[in-house]
Amino acid sequence: MGWLFGILGLCSSLLLPAVVNCQNGKNNVPRLKLTYKEMMELNNVVTFGGIANSSSYQAFLLDEEKGRLFVGAKDHIFSFNLININKDVLKIVWPPSPSRRNECKWAGKDLVKECANFIRVLQHYNQSHLYACGTGAFHPVCAYIEVGHRPEIKDNERKYARKDL
Ligand SMILES: *[C@@H]1O[C@H](CO)[C@@H](O)[C@H](O)[C@H]1NC(C)=O
Ligand SMILES: *[C@@H]1O[C@H](CO)[C@@H](O)[C@H](O)[C@H]1NC(C)=O
Repeated sequence: MGWLFGILGLCSSLLLPAVVNCQNGKNNVPRLKLTYKEMMELNNVVTFGGIANSSSYQAFLLDEEKGRLFVGAKDHIFSFNLININKDVLKIVWPPSPSRRNECKWAGKDLVKECANFIRVLQHYNQSHLYACGTGAFHPVCAYIEVGHRPEIKDNERKYARKDL
């Protein structure tokens, strides 16, 4: 119910006409897709400059308390600043082990496109840790990731306990 009132509130104030189309009776549900043009027209969009050697941004976890957006990608977990996604990016590099990659290759898979650790699950675990799982080049792996009380995951500083399934 709270959710419904939230949407009605948006409609009546017309704060986000591009997101919630309230004029058209049959379209009175929140839209899940926005075109690039519509996004840019909102005028409050910060576009992401991208990060070398990363792709497949597929798992997202918002941490409003720490002001971070955690994102699982190919071989990486990123921690972005909520205010400016291009500022102060922290990351953990988490590729499959070389032997896993080789096994994957020998099984006939594409080394670049498939034999990687695609992070698919990011969840809050407790006050100090996230729980993350990746495909691990066809051998799923999960780990507790320390995010601390301050928002930090430092590059090359593997402060997390990795746990292979
Ligand atoms: C990206 O990958 C290439 C080839 O593996 C490597 O030489 C380069 O240092 C990487 N760049 C970054 C920013 O990690
Ligand atoms: C959160 O869970 C991790 C992994 O089990 C543990 O090491 C850590 O001490 C826990 N932190 C808190 C604040 O309970």
